[in-house]
Amino acid sequence: MRLIGLIFLVVLVYGEDSFITKEEYAKMLYHNPRGIGCHKCHGEYGKGEILGRYKEGNRTIIIQAPNITTLSFKKFYEALTSGKHRLMPHYFLTTQEIKTLYYYLKSSKSKSSKR
Ligand code: HEC
Repeated sequence: MRLIGLIFLVVLVYGEDSFITKEEYAKMLYHNPRGIGCHKCHGEYGKGEILGRYKEGNRTIIIQAPNITTLSFKKFYEALTSGKHRLMPHYFLTTQEIKTLYYYLKSSKSKSSKR
């Protein structure tokens, strides 16, 4: 009987660690969406980042990943499913995953004003 009690206690104490919150899952997906992490181009909080610059004649061309924290869900969804973008890699995300990423960007936006 004591053993059962012990097992029960172990499960109770350590079992809790195996649960991840919605926030943790969303952050994980943003960093590892079965492909290159979104943060590598759009920044930690999706505020956008300059990926590179080059000169064309006397013009400087800036290659930039846009801010993706202020889009409507419709726009966000379309960008990830239409395959129309030129520089962004193509992802194979489910609707649920896209919703989770959208949630991550909306919830992390308020946490930090920097990138
Ligand atoms: C290799 C860099 C790169 C990665 C990685 C990347 N993006 Fe992008 N993303 C871009 C660029 C650049 C654009 C602008 C369109 C274009 O030129 O492809 C863009 C456009 C977008 C847009 C449309 C923005 C708008 O204003 O319409 C959304 C939404 C978006 N990305 C979300 C994501 C999400 C979510 C991920 C991760 C699953 C991701 N991106 C990963 C570079 C990247």
